[in-house]
Amino acid sequence: MTKILMVCLGNICRSPLAEGILKSKLPVNTFLIDSAGTANYHVGNPPDRRSIAVGKKYGIDISNLKGRQFSVNDFDAFDLIYVMDDSNYRNVISMARSEQDKSKVKFILNEIYPNQNFDVPDPYYGGDHGFEDVFKMLDEACTIIAKSFI
Ligand code: 4NP
Repeated sequence: MTKILMVCLGNICRSPLAEGILKSKLPVNTFLIDSAGTANYHVGNPPDRRSIAVGKKYGIDISNLKGRQFSVNDFDAFDLIYVMDDSNYRNVISMARSEQDKSKVKFILNEIYPNQNFDVPDPYYGGDHGFEDVFKMLDEACTIIAKSFI
């Protein structure tokens, strides 16, 4: 079983979409894919309605996901931890206990633009178009991730 965690700030906009998109591209029996937020603002909440809507538009149902906060145990539970932006990266790395923990943490857009450490922009305070852009970036990155396992 390969275990992959997607991380953003609130776990309601970007990382639930990344989770749903990557799940749609990999076999469910050999891949465990989850998401979490570095903050606790939205623990137990469903994804933002705009993330649910853009997922639905492209055939991905994330309406049943529930927000949870990233914890240090996630370094043990997952093989790879993809963060959406630099702030997420710093928050997650600050909780790492070892070089092995740190080595699991990657910028998701580095799958498309290696070593650039680009951010998936936080769409929370913007309009619907931000969610469409985020979906496209995450879809492209997740296609590359999925292909790397085939
Ligand atoms: P996310 O977006 O990190 O992509 O889930 C956000 C969601 C909520 C907030 C910030 C970002 N917030 O401040 O509540």
